Amino acid sequence: MTENPAPAPEGADVDVRERLVELAKRRGFFFRTAGAYGGAAGFYTFGPEGAALKRAVENAWRDRFAVAEGNVEIDAPTVLPEPVFEASGHLDTFDDMLVECADCGTSHRADHLVEDHADIEEAEGLPPEEIESLIRDDEVACPACGAALSGEPVEDFNLMFETAIGPGSGSPGYLRPETAQGIFVDFPRLAEYARGQLPFGVTQIGRAYRNEISPRRSILRVRELTQAELELFVDPEGGGPDLAGVADAELRLLSAEAQLDGESEPYETTVREAVDAGTVGNEWVAYYLGVASEWYESMGVDPDRLRFRQHVAGERAHYAVDCWDAESEVDGDWVELAGVADRGDYDLSKHREHADERFSVFRQYDEARTVERTDVDPDMSELGPRYGGDAEAVADELRALAGRDPETLDGESVTVTVDGTDYQVDTGHVEVTTETTTETGEHVVPHVIEPSFGVDRLVYTLLDHAYREDEVEGERRTSLALDPSVAPTLAAVFPLTDGERDRAEAIVAELRAEGFAVEYDDSGNIGRRYRRQDEVGTPFCVTVDPDTHADGTVTLRDRNTTEQVRVPVDALVALLAALRNGDRDFASLAAEYPVVGDGDGSAPAPDPGGE
Ligand code: GAP
Repeated sequence: MTENPAPAPEGADVDVRERLVELAKRRGFFFRTAGAYGGAAGFYTFGPEGAALKRAVENAWRDRFAVAEGNVEIDAPTVLPEPVFEASGHLDTFDDMLVECADCGTSHRADHLVEDHADIEEAEGLPPEEIESLIRDDEVACPACGAALSGEPVEDFNLMFETAIGPGSGSPGYLRPETAQGIFVDFPRLAEYARGQLPFGVTQIGRAYRNEISPRRSILRVRELTQAELELFVDPEGGGPDLAGVADAELRLLSAEAQLDGESEPYETTVREAVDAGTVGNEWVAYYLGVASEWYESMGVDPDRLRFRQHVAGERAHYAVDCWDAESEVDGDWVELAGVADRGDYDLSKHREHADERFSVFRQYDEARTVERTDVDPDMSELGPRYGGDAEAVADELRALAGRDPETLDGESVTVTVDGTDYQVDTGHVEVTTETTTETGEHVVPHVIEPSFGVDRLVYTLLDHAYREDEVEGERRTSLALDPSVAPTLAAVFPLTDGERDRAEAIVAELRAEGFAVEYDDSGNIGRRYRRQDEVGTPFCVTVDPDTHADGTVTLRDRNTTEQVRVPVDALVALLAALRNGDRDFASLAAEYPVVGDGDGSAPAPDPGGE
């Protein structure tokens, strides 16, 4: 099977996209893995800059979704045995629609082809026959060779990577397609850890694997990806979250109803309004949409290029009752960054059914309750000869009936159904006993609310939304306006001349000792050093010059405006910490310290090398 090339979405600025991907490769953000061997589609390596950015994203997610919410984090294996995926439904239903070109053998994701050609935004939920008709009606051709795809069958293709656990043929296992399953399968232990108290949340950040039919658009659709997922276990009859903290968070929503009405533009609202209007049905889902919206903005996602779109019927995954996707606008297209799903009791009920009873928690009543329990003891010496091989099943049905509907046993006979056959049982052959007991609680299967984030796509979005091309001092400049909290390097330190090298190196050592990611650069003129740092998104540059020896001050330059201020070396640690944490912005420094140059950003400080 060969894979199709990545088509650019309509409206995309292909040149800018290509320049961004080229920058990512050249400056060590991300590149195709094992390029010397021809690579393998859908596998990317994060280079030094990309790995630092990705790590910052993961740490920020951990701080917000685990630590700040009081949720715990686990680290489970990426390989799980087959029965887990039989229970979870992934073996049967984790499929995408595949169509292969008979001429060149290229495989395509059939629903994506239809979305690219027909006037349909979401084709994922359509049945294969309808996709086949759309391919025929719209005369969809193979993007690789141009041959007509009309008449080619559209088939389900399971996305899981299979492996064998143990030597020889081993026992079948799969690379996890979502980190979530590692949490669900160990629910009994995790519930014990949480002392059975709902709600409780478990997070996991790690790799997941999907054998995508057509990986495309660099790290936006890969076969090995990183997810950051929270599985929040809630009582189906319990209260919702305290919305106060996010009630005013702004949301740009596109509901399923609006989409069915032909709407494609989101409307602006708040978490509180969305809950009051019933647009978002589950308060936990609304809460995490609010948290996600604020968090994305704090990371540097452009709020005007972010929306939350509800899945329409047919689009939802097999486990979801409701789902809202966070989508960012990238290259003129909307890209799914995360999903906040209400998974109902699907996961725990399935594992309870396939594994054991412990996939539930014991809910204590406020006050003990007195209840009557009816039990039956069928006389097998009568049932055996009458019902033969079905006698045990008939007895089981009678016991189930006693728990469900005990009054039916009051008559002279009762009807039970086994494998579609009705049996009339004489109640004289069944001893019925009723016992009054005091119960302190009951077993309930928690529901799951799942905010599930893709890390790779967020890294790409941050780069795309931060990408700038402008002109400084008549020279074309490319920069990444990354937020200081996630930028791979917080500051670069330059000696202006050889005479300041020792002092600059001492400053670097001091800043690194404080835990800042700092670069030292003494090669080329200062202007070129600034350009190198601008291109990888370093927010601040510190220049040590002859005046530093005299008055103990250095120049601190802001990447976005190129503005520079003169600050004492002794204040650097506190200032950089405040700038990184968002406690101060550069404008406030310009108000406090002497501005160097004309201070309007267009003319950076004079320097011998020239900027
Ligand atoms: N546990 C739920 C779940 O896995 P999903 O919508 O299939 O939900 C969650 O995946 C997120 O993972 C997506 O919103 C997306 O950001 C990311 N993701 C999924 N498939 C991906 C792929 N092939 N490449 C990159 N990111 C992907």
